[in-house]
Amino acid sequence: MAVGILLVGGFGTRLKPLTNESPKPMLPVAGLPVTEHQILAAKKAGIHTLVLATSYLADVFTPYFGDGSKWGIKILYAVEKEPLGTGGAIRNAAELLGRDEPIVIFNGDVLSRHSIAAQIDFHIAKKADVTLHLIEVEDARAFGCVPTDDSGRVTAFLEKMENPVSRSINAGCYVFSPSVLDEIPLGAVVSIERETFPTLVQSARAVFGYKEQAYWLDVGTPAALFKGSRDLVAGDFVLMPGAVVAPTARITGGSAIGADTVVEAGAVIIDCIIGNNVRVGEGAQLSHCFVAHGTHVPAAAIKESIYLSATAELPISL
Ligand code: GTP
Repeated sequence: MAVGILLVGGFGTRLKPLTNESPKPMLPVAGLPVTEHQILAAKKAGIHTLVLATSYLADVFTPYFGDGSKWGIKILYAVEKEPLGTGGAIRNAAELLGRDEPIVIFNGDVLSRHSIAAQIDFHIAKKADVTLHLIEVEDARAFGCVPTDDSGRVTAFLEKMENPVSRSINAGCYVFSPSVLDEIPLGAVVSIERETFPTLVQSARAVFGYKEQAYWLDVGTPAALFKGSRDLVAGDFVLMPGAVVAPTARITGGSAIGADTVVEAGAVIIDCIIGNNVRVGEGAQLSHCFVAHGTHVPAAAIKESIYLSATAELPISL
């Protein structure tokens, strides 16, 4: 068994304007918030308690996830008044957890189908201080890379570079032995990637890489968020409970239609993410659009690559 921390407090700057009114982890992917997909995966791996480390737009999480009983998992909340960075957030959230089980940390913007349970087992078998999920990419130039030796031990944390020495990158899911978390200073701004990990490796601590090539996507940009949603829809469209679509409307391109949304006659929706309680008016044509929860799209509106909310209409680059 294990406990976990979900990092959900970042500003999500690269996802603007989608994150103007919603934190990135609450953006819907195939009808459910990114965080909800992660909670389902954590539960499947035997994690029984999760702390959501929130900061930006922190109030949005509690009404949705409550105490977690709907998902059969205990959910707690650690709110940072000012963002503490990834390392500071983890240390702050760990105050709510015991110290007798491994602590699994999730970046709140990753969709991954790797086996979290196998990663925890690997961590225990290696008697590691920290075990990172590593994923191989074709071109690691856009990422920092994480080389390992034959035993799987991490030998360096390298920043982005023109000729990466390894194709393995940090996939954003870490297992920590609890005592190691306590070495991060409490209440300070710390980056786990730029400070904690390089320091642990330099001081020859047992930092291991768990390599599993499963489906993996960082949904940190609008194009990636749309891809993640299409991948999970895996067909023309998905309708969430209570959604009503007129028989003459056409929905395609891996679109997701949120709960209790109404799509009126003759509307055309191609490769869109449509939130909950939206009304898409008669004959409206939307392609590659993100429509926030509760928005009314007027009849006959024609929009392409647009973010629409009740108060804003802004272009998005996909
Ligand atoms: P960008 O601004 O677009 O880079 O996005 P981001 O703010 O989400 O940053 P990044 O993608 O580097 O963050 C990785 C994960 O850590 C995301 O799930 C963030 O929500 C989370 N995160 C980043 N900074 C903080 C922080 O200061 N506090 C908390 N609680 N979470 C954070």
